Amino acid sequence: PIIYAITPTFSRPVQKAELTRLAQTFLHIPNFHWIVVEDSSSKTKLVTRFLENSGLIYTHLAVITPPNYKLGRTDANWKKPRGVEQRNAALRWLRENLKPTDNGIVYFADDDNTYSIKLFYEMEKIKKVGVWPVGLVGGLMVEKPICDNVTNKVIGFNAGWKPDRPFPLDMAGFAINLRLLLEHKDAEFSYDVEGGYQESEILRQIVTRDELEPLADCCMKVYVWHTRTEDPKLKMEQLLIKKGRRSNIGIEV
Ligand code: UGA
Ligand code: MN
Repeated sequence: PIIYAITPTFSRPVQKAELTRLAQTFLHIPNFHWIVVEDSSSKTKLVTRFLENSGLIYTHLAVITPPNYKLGRTDANWKKPRGVEQRNAALRWLRENLKPTDNGIVYFADDDNTYSIKLFYEMEKIKKVGVWPVGLVGGLMVEKPICDNVTNKVIGFNAGWKPDRPFPLDMAGFAINLRLLLEHKDAEFSYDVEGGYQESEILRQIVTRDELEPLADCCMKVYVWHTRTEDPKLKMEQLLIKKGRRSNIGIEV
């Protein structure tokens, strides 16, 4: 199968660094197609150039989050969901451009997480929806499905944060067989759900809990980490900007 990784991304000082880290992981994966969706009204020069030079097979889209759903600079990050508009645009692209006979796996790969190459080899086995542990999320070292090693079935979840969610998983903790998304052509993310329910929202439309396929050694291996990048301190840069200068004139950072 081809692995379609959907990455929402937005302009900020660390953007190119994040995308570089991702691209250099993805270059190791055969049969990989990166769908990068900018949270922006049009495609930016930085991301356009970046993708052209990445060496990856990719699709570049741009769709802006409506202002009433955009997180303010001082808002706590749980207040509004991120990536909804962008992931839905990518789902539309898949449905408009791929055929039911195409063999693919769809993964939502945020731009700040850390991915092991091994994760993508696991995904190739997915018939419906594959699930696995995610490190450093939900207030735990690892948030994971609980896998019965006799039946190799998911029998529960260890989540501590909102454990009553229909699918108490992080976005990084599952991937979907393309066929399911083409069959359920209205399945998408929504603004009308409680914080932390995006994953449950898409999954409840396409799969049941007992159909989940535990991967990564019956969910005993961690191949993805929900890392979050600190905002860089740019005090000196701001001082320069006040004086009409900057450190990066003619230099893309
Ligand atoms: C957690 C989950 O891991 C996300 O998959 C989920 O979308 C998010 O919560 C949520 O509740 O909406 P978190 O690390 O808090 O993740 O989210 P971010 O990494 O800040 O954002 C998720 C993705 O959306 C990233 O790829 C980011 O680049 C993108 N994003 C973020 C935008 O496209 N626009 C924004 O304004 C902010
Ligand atoms: Mn994140």
